[in-house]
Amino acid sequence: MGKKIFSGVQPTGNLHLGNYLGAIKNFVDLNNDDDNKCIFCVVDLHAITIKQDPKELKNNIRETVATFIASGIDPKKSIIFNQSGVAAHAEGAWILSCVARMGWLNRMTQFKEKAGKDKEKASIGLYSYPVLMAADILLYDATHVPVGDDQKQHLELCRDIAQKFNNDFEVENFLQVPEPLIQKEFSRIMSLKDGSKKMSKSDLSDSSRINLTDDKDQIINKIKKAKTDSLPMPKNIKELDERLEAKNLLGIYSSLNNSTLENSVKNFAGKNFSQFKEKLADELVHKIEPISNEIKKLLEDKSHLDEILLDGVEKANSIASKKIERIKEIVGF
Ligand code: AMP
Ligand code: TRP
Repeated sequence: MGKKIFSGVQPTGNLHLGNYLGAIKNFVDLNNDDDNKCIFCVVDLHAITIKQDPKELKNNIRETVATFIASGIDPKKSIIFNQSGVAAHAEGAWILSCVARMGWLNRMTQFKEKAGKDKEKASIGLYSYPVLMAADILLYDATHVPVGDDQKQHLELCRDIAQKFNNDFEVENFLQVPEPLIQKEFSRIMSLKDGSKKMSKSDLSDSSRINLTDDKDQIINKIKKAKTDSLPMPKNIKELDERLEAKNLLGIYSSLNNSTLENSVKNFAGKNFSQFKEKLADELVHKIEPISNEIKKLLEDKSHLDEILLDGVEKANSIASKKIERIKEIVGF
């Protein structure tokens, strides 16, 4: 049976290889299966949980849409829209924030990481961010949510919220409890500078990540400079437990090739890193350069991207507005 897919990406700039391999590549495969109904959301309400420059935010929203399309998502088959265009997201988040418990949110590790040492100065939105994410998903009765590994805990919270709502209001199965779709391998791509840190948009060092807008030379240079160790390439998978940078680069190579880590290790066992890096850069250029070129081309026609969003907002709104009306009735409004 077909799946109802919902996922979101924050328009916070610098979309990178981790976003692509952890999430967007999966979106494309799901979009290509005609049995599925897919909704991909540019989560601009989530973006402002951390301060954004309004002009940049607008550009980043368009760039996220361009990235979806350049990666292979077809806006005729899938709904692509921005969250702030559909009022039900904010309304739903409020109602669900009265269902979610403080104790549940206090366990969220992403908040702890993002808020850093000075929690008192973090926005309230950053804290309640996962409740808005639950509203996103539950408004569309999504059955499956493709995300990278870092969103696993937020999805568990979403499931808890759905179940508690259904129990509290005695509406069995009213909110669909969604399943996460997290790739078994390579669901967490690490920084090119530090194999223990996630590849991230906000890393101050641009050479820690491959941006999806990087050109051929940038990709080649970043891979050349990527951190490794001084040993030859690992001979077996077990060695990788202690060699995080080698593990990450081999993981990227395997994911791009749809191959297993084991096979990639075998292919390069005992060789020099430079030989492997050349092959890895080739693969990356082959995959990322066309996406990067297409993003740039799409960004030349802003009104086309805006039209796609408007059309998506209309379609999303027709689904979400019905669900939020039912939610309000159930709550007693
Ligand atoms: P974000 O940019 O935080 O909105 O993330 C968009 C999607 O990319 C989410 O599904 C994340 O789980 C995924 N993602 C972000 N960073 C990484 C990473 N380093 N490795 C794998 N997936 C990632
Ligand atoms: N929190 C997700 C992230 O940072 C983005 C997101 C918002 C999302 N709403 C969602 C992902 C709904 C999946 C489903 O990556």
